[in-house]
Amino acid sequence: MTITNELQATIEQMVQQGKGILAADESQPTIAKRFAAIGVVPTAENCRAYRGLLFTAPGIEDYISGVIEFEDTLAQSDDDGTPLPVVLARRGIVPGIKVDKGTGPLALSPCDLITYGLDGLAARLIQYKSQGARFAKWREVYKIGDHYPTALGISANAEMLARYAAVCQEQGIVPIVEPEVLIDGNHSMARCAEVTETVLKLVFHALHRHHVVLEHMILKPNMVLPGKDHPVKASAAEIAVATLRVFRRAVPAAVPSINFLSGGLSPEEATANLNAMNANFPGTPWLLSFSYGRALQQTVLQAWQGKTENVPSAQLALLKRARLNGAAQRGEYTPAMESAN
Ligand code: 13P
Repeated sequence: MTITNELQATIEQMVQQGKGILAADESQPTIAKRFAAIGVVPTAENCRAYRGLLFTAPGIEDYISGVIEFEDTLAQSDDDGTPLPVVLARRGIVPGIKVDKGTGPLALSPCDLITYGLDGLAARLIQYKSQGARFAKWREVYKIGDHYPTALGISANAEMLARYAAVCQEQGIVPIVEPEVLIDGNHSMARCAEVTETVLKLVFHALHRHHVVLEHMILKPNMVLPGKDHPVKASAAEIAVATLRVFRRAVPAAVPSINFLSGGLSPEEATANLNAMNANFPGTPWLLSFSYGRALQQTVLQAWQGKTENVPSAQLALLKRARLNGAAQRGEYTPAMESAN
């Protein structure tokens, strides 16, 4: 199979109506934080058991087309000894891998962040691919303040995303390009819109300069929202209007799918916002779907509590959120569906 055919086949399997992506790629410090909230020690075995619970949840393949894994997970197996990426692939779910090495300060520009991990990336992708990964994820992070992100921060981050995406495509791996404008802060929705639009325009300019094929990538952005500490809250309908305005201006129609991150929204908010976009704006050039981490897993962790006897109810919790987000992808979610099992 040529690289182009390989990328196209992966995109077709990942981008399907009524389906989205589960982000289960928490790094070690992040999963430790999530486990601490339910009193579970983040041993390798507990991480394996938890990811196994997620990946074997009955029925999720009807709503989940891809799962982003953390490096360690690729090498782990379920309770029956089947490698976790194989567990996913057998269910028709595309296994993916987070390949960035996290963020740090951008030198000489203290309010901007930059993401590490480009060195040796091609060799790592070859290894991940041999373990079953067919797509990758890389996240750049932008904090909003009165004077940041700076123009330098925005262009440096765009360059990283484009270089990562080009390396992925060269290796036959579909890149998920994730520029995340953080919800933290007291900025207005208008300010989030302004920053997100600039960020996206520079990201697509950089992708173009680096010869990235837009048809063979997925965009994973934030929604346009007021900051978490802003006094005025926005409704799902208002968020949908603001988000679509920015995306129509900044995201080329060639991109097959926009899969939003949940970024600290509650599970219900993340679902309602996605639903409002699809219900109120049918006929967008891209599929509008989800690639949620916390918004899919929060209720699962609560139900699990690290106990084997809770695995079936935790799996039901995942199936429920996957189903509701699948409905939101089609614009068919209603809040009343939250009270049904
Ligand atoms: P959240 O949905 O929890 O923001 O996680 C998605 C993700 O992959 C962040 O990189």
